[in-house]
Amino acid sequence: MADVSDENLELVREQFGANAEAYGTSAVHARGASLGLLVDRLGLDPSWAVLDIATGGGSVALACAPHVASVVASDATPQMLDVVQRRAEEEGVDNLSTEIADAHDLPYADGRWDTVTCRIAPHHFHDPAKFVAEVARTLRPGGVFGLVDNVVPDDSNVATFANEWERKRDPSHARCLSVNEWLTLLSVNGFTIEHRELLAKEMGFTWWCDNMSVPADVREQLLAELAAADEDVRAFLRPKFGEYEDQSIDPDTTVFYLTEVVLVARKSG
Ligand SMILES: C[S@@+](CC[C@H](N)C(=O)[O-])C[C@H]1O[C@@H](n2cnc3c(N)ncnc32)[C@H](O)[C@@H]1O
Repeated sequence: MADVSDENLELVREQFGANAEAYGTSAVHARGASLGLLVDRLGLDPSWAVLDIATGGGSVALACAPHVASVVASDATPQMLDVVQRRAEEEGVDNLSTEIADAHDLPYADGRWDTVTCRIAPHHFHDPAKFVAEVARTLRPGGVFGLVDNVVPDDSNVATFANEWERKRDPSHARCLSVNEWLTLLSVNGFTIEHRELLAKEMGFTWWCDNMSVPADVREQLLAELAAADEDVRAFLRPKFGEYEDQSIDPDTTVFYLTEVVLVARKSG
C-alpha cells in the first residue's frame, strides 16, 4: 500500500498539474498583498542564495530574484515549474532556476540557503513539522525563513469546518494550522520571530472554485454549507452572499474572507 506521503503528493500533482496555468497567473498568487510584504521583510542581500518551496507559478521566486544572487524555485508538480520557467523568460530573469522537490524531504545539503520562503502552500503538506525541520536543516545559521499561509483559529469547531470545507473544493488540501501552531513549530526548530502579521484576503466564491475546476454539484454543496454554517464559522469566513432577483444565492457575486499569516523568522546562529 502507498504511504500517506505518496498519496498526498499524487493528489497535489493531480490538482495542480491540471490547473497550473490558472494558479500561476491568478491575482491572489501573482499580486496578493502578502507577496510584497514578505519580500520587503526578508531583508534580502545581493550575495544571497534563496530557495522558494512549493513555488507554484513562481511569484515569490520572481519577486526575490532582482534582489539576490540566485533563486531556486522548487515544487512537487512539474507543470507548475513549466509556468515558472516561461514567466522567468518573459520577464528576462536569468538568475532563477527550477527544481522538483518535496517540501518534506528537500534534496539540499545542510546550511545550503541564506533564505528559504514558502507562501500559500503548507496547507497542502501532510507533515508541517517535517517541513519546518527541513527548512531549519537547509538554512545556514542566522538564515531567514519567510512563511505565508492561510490560517485557522485555535477554536477546533471553526478550524474543522474551514479545513473540511476547503478539502471538498481541493482534495489535495491537508490542513491549515493556527498561528499558535506555527509559532510552536518555529520555536522548537530554533527560530526567532522577527515579523508577524495577519492579512484578510477576499475570495470570490466562483473564482475560488474555478481555480480547482470544481464540478457544479460540489459548488452547490459548498455554497449550501457556507450558508448554513454556524455563527462562529461565519464570524471567521465573513461570507457576503450575492443574490439573484428571486433571492436565491448568486455564487458569482458571493465572497468570503480567508486569513493569511506572514511570518519572518531567523534561524539561531
Ligand atoms: C497555491 S500553490 C503555491 C503558491 C505560490 N507559492 C505563490 O506564492 O504564488 C501550492 C503549490 O504547492 C505545491 N505543493 C503541494 N505540496 C507540495 C509538497 N509536498 N512539496 C512541494 N510542493 C508542494 C503544489 O504543487 C502547488 O504548486
